[in-house]
Amino acid sequence: MIVVSNRIPTGESVSGGLVVALHDTLGCAGGIWIGAHPEPGIGEETLDELGLTPYRRLAFRLTEEEQKNYYLGYANSVLWPLCHRRGDLVEMRPEYGAAYQAVNARVARMVGKIARHDDLIWVHDYHFLPLAKEMRALGLANRIGFFLHVPFPALGDLSVLSQPERFADDLAHYNLIGLQTRSDVARCLEMFRADPRAEFMPDGGIKFLDRITAVRSFPIGIDTAGFAEDAAQEAVNPFGRGDPGRFLIGVDRLDYSKGLPNRFRAFARYLENRPAGSRPCLVQIAPPTRQQVRAYQDITRELEEIAGHVNGTFAELDWTPIRYIHRSVPRVELARLYRKASVGLVTSFADGMNLVAKEYVAAQDPKNPGVLLLSRFAGAAEDMTDALQINPYDVEDVATAISTALDMPLEERQRRHASCLDVVGRTDVTIWSTAFLRALMTCIPSMTFPG
Ligand code: UDP
Ligand code: G6P
Repeated sequence: MIVVSNRIPTGESVSGGLVVALHDTLGCAGGIWIGAHPEPGIGEETLDELGLTPYRRLAFRLTEEEQKNYYLGYANSVLWPLCHRRGDLVEMRPEYGAAYQAVNARVARMVGKIARHDDLIWVHDYHFLPLAKEMRALGLANRIGFFLHVPFPALGDLSVLSQPERFADDLAHYNLIGLQTRSDVARCLEMFRADPRAEFMPDGGIKFLDRITAVRSFPIGIDTAGFAEDAAQEAVNPFGRGDPGRFLIGVDRLDYSKGLPNRFRAFARYLENRPAGSRPCLVQIAPPTRQQVRAYQDITRELEEIAGHVNGTFAELDWTPIRYIHRSVPRVELARLYRKASVGLVTSFADGMNLVAKEYVAAQDPKNPGVLLLSRFAGAAEDMTDALQINPYDVEDVATAISTALDMPLEERQRRHASCLDVVGRTDVTIWSTAFLRALMTCIPSMTFPG
């Protein structure tokens, strides 16, 4: 198996659902993982081997221009906001699209050099939508699958792109298109239905010009048992002497899709009306991400202003309501933090799945579990219907839910937790990858280029 994604683990602590899930997958199944080198290059056509892991890691180098125009530009200033319903943040520049195509073509050539004819190729995320088309153009007839970790865009939003018709054409070069949720599948099928080049076949497959593709949902998950085990290790108190007492936890890359300012506002609203003597703390881990993009600089500034304002308003000499940490924290430490937290907060305006929601549930002590507040716009909400679902646009609603969660009787907490844990177990990361790879293996290989 050859896996391709932009981000690969490279030693320093990285946050992001894709790396977490693929690391767990390749750790079990083995294979080759190709992704971007952390250091820039000069546009080499060769892959660097990165040290030993249970799987092989091969890295291509992006030039500084490509990093700017392909990664920060087309991927994160066009496709990311498009998929997260933030058309207002899309920034169009001709050099973005050109660099995106060029990087996809170069990576396709590099994969083509090492792929054997029977290798399964599994491509991940919005950085590589046209990769299969580029590989097909080189004559690769392998089974090629694609998994989109982020929400599938609504049909109308695709018009933001300068050539929206390429979106469906690029995707149709994959034998299998995997999406996070049933709603994502519905939007993808809506796109194909609206396209005169697509024809629906009786078995549910889609014939697009002379190619056949399949679309299915594969909700991503975590290594549930391993995570629960890490969480239950009592050895170290993560807070040392600064124990906050009762606390709520949020863990998110500092991304505008995560609804962090509204989360802080809702917490402030809760504090305004809290019962006398209640002094809970909100521990927010929010590592920086894509900081060269203006929208990320803006959201960082906004969040820091709100945190300062809330603490300035409510703090007492021995109590800081919001503990905001603008750094990445290792996952084993997160596991222990989740377990101690009375409430887990997920307030995304749009989110492919949100692994943090699953991690919070897996980390709880089933005898005395905390409560997950889950945005109805996160992919995780489709199946975790017994989480306390909230509307992140409605600050008042979130504030009320915080109060409900903090006061929830043990029996109700146990019932909701058992139901959510059941979902987390049923969508474990191994189940996710096995289901995807099985489906890919049974797909008809490329009709355009028979092997
Ligand atoms: N994460 C981490 N350290 C941090 C923040 C996040 O290890 O400081 C991990 C977190 O545990 C989760 C992943 O990064 O596994 C985030 O995935 P999620 O699906 O919630 O969001 P994404 O970042 O992919 O949008
Ligand atoms: C999300 C995306 C991933 C990405 C991750 C971290 O999970 O779906 O593709 O790797 O965020 O973002 P970054 O830009 O640092 O890779």
